[in-house]
Amino acid sequence: MRMVLLGPPGAGKGTQAVILQEKKGFLHLSTGDILRENVKNNTDIGKKAKAFMEKGELVPDDIVIEMMLNTIENSRDKKDFILDGFPRTVYQAKKLDNELSKLKLPIDIAVYFKTSLKTVILRLAGRRLCSKCGANYHIVNMPPKKQGVCDKCGAGLYQRKDDSEETIKKRLEVYDNQTKELIDYYNTQGILKEVSGDMEAGKVYSELSEILNTCGSDDRHKVGK
Ligand code: AP5
Repeated sequence: MRMVLLGPPGAGKGTQAVILQEKKGFLHLSTGDILRENVKNNTDIGKKAKAFMEKGELVPDDIVIEMMLNTIENSRDKKDFILDGFPRTVYQAKKLDNELSKLKLPIDIAVYFKTSLKTVILRLAGRRLCSKCGANYHIVNMPPKKQGVCDKCGAGLYQRKDDSEETIKKRLEVYDNQTKELIDYYNTQGILKEVSGDMEAGKVYSELSEILNTCGSDDRHKVGK
């Protein structure tokens, strides 16, 4: 099954994708993680993307589309994947649909994490990440056992540069103006499902599992809302 996760920054898309990967074996493809890795390694993509990401703006479509279509192509033997953070514009979604139809691997389901503004602001401001393994924490909701230290590998935690108050505002604006319309795009295709992103992570996961249990990979166009 191929799944797209939609929702504002901080809705918990990445958190749930990691759980789905661990528990159900989905391949988690996160545009943000791939871009951040490129920035860290100072690749050509990273050099082009860095300034946009730091300002909270979208990286230009052509860069992201090529990067993600290559990533999908290279992992096409894995037919169950989750796209987290891609597509982010209708233009990206159309390009993705074209490419996946050639590979005969259409998107089966798009899950919209409906989440309040208050929730996403609190989540983004309190998010901390492991500098080594990338594990995701929240200083209040999901704190590590020892403050500032990753439970999994013992490395230090850091705050993403784009989780500053000003950049969060910009990212939310960009979401409203450029990404939100994807909800209609997938609804029109009849493959949109909705979960409440405001709930605690275990409950969100239960809802997601129920959705997946009722959607076999042949269920495209039967999913509805
Ligand atoms: P990206 O990394 O994709 O950021 P985002 O969409 O802004 O999403 P986030 O990672 O901020 O949020 P999330 O929903 O995954 O929340 P999380 O699970 O971490 O993109 C970054 C940048 O890259 C973009 O701004 C852009 O520049 C560029 N980019 C990426 N894709 C692009 C594209 N397709 N086109 C162009 N540019 C692109 O959770 C947040 C926090 O809340 C965590 O601390 C977590 O522990 C906590 N939490 C999660 N769930 C819960 C819960 N249920 N209850 C309590 N706490 C929770």
